[in-house]
Amino acid sequence: MGQPIGVIDSGVGGLTVARELMRQLPKERFIYLGDTKRCPYGPRPEQEVRAFTWQMVRFLLAKDIKMLVIACNTATAFTLRELQRELPIPVIGVIEPGARAAIKASKNKRIGVIGTEGTIESKAYPNKLMSIDDEIRVNDLSCPPFVPMVEEGILTGDQALGIVERTLQPLKDMNHIDTLILGCTHYPLITPLIQQVMGESIQVISSGEETAREASLILAYHDALENRKEKPVHEFYTTGDLEKFRQIANNWFDEPVQVLEVVEIDGAKSSAY
Ligand code: DGL
Repeated sequence: MGQPIGVIDSGVGGLTVARELMRQLPKERFIYLGDTKRCPYGPRPEQEVRAFTWQMVRFLLAKDIKMLVIACNTATAFTLRELQRELPIPVIGVIEPGARAAIKASKNKRIGVIGTEGTIESKAYPNKLMSIDDEIRVNDLSCPPFVPMVEEGILTGDQALGIVERTLQPLKDMNHIDTLILGCTHYPLITPLIQQVMGESIQVISSGEETAREASLILAYHDALENRKEKPVHEFYTTGDLEKFRQIANNWFDEPVQVLEVVEIDGAKSSAY
């Protein structure tokens, strides 16, 4: 059996990227780890996000992954370069693919970005967008209530709509953007609410599709694509509540997840892997 691809997030958000990876790379086997117990990462200091991310990475390296997808914007903002430097396998994040997808979609070069406090404060999106095209203008906004809401499985209904409306109001007030990047992988789980609040004229972009395309290009370049006949069995791990994770995952994927376990990763040493 060939080596799997590792996917990490602070919780269930990375499942939105995993679904797209599985769709575009149906022969690959994926191992997903969500650090649900310590989610959200968004409000945490950079040092802590880096330490937690390394613990997730060590868990997956022990499973002999051939590529790592950081399916978390906050962890991408703080650790992508470091992990690319230190690991012997290809590492991809979600910020550059999201930025590229938005540039492709925008007509007026005015792009909104929503994400966690960590991602927005890091300015990773404006920097990336403007490094590609310096005519791009960016309005960004952190949306702290969204991640806890999604982790609780509150994805529809009046309560959720009210929260999304109140949180996005500042961005609506500056309504000249034509494209909005969901700069947190939890947010695609509430895309219908975000679209409803922002209006149909705004193109809502999530990075999953472009990230999966990048993953397949890199695997092809390294001649590391899988060519198995039998259907791969993916593995899912969470550091938190198993049943909450299962419910959200099963709603998000077409088929129920088969292998799902609770793991502890915070015992791992936090120095170099
Ligand atoms: N899903 C993550 C992201 O894309 C992190 C959410 C959080 O833990 O705050 O940023």
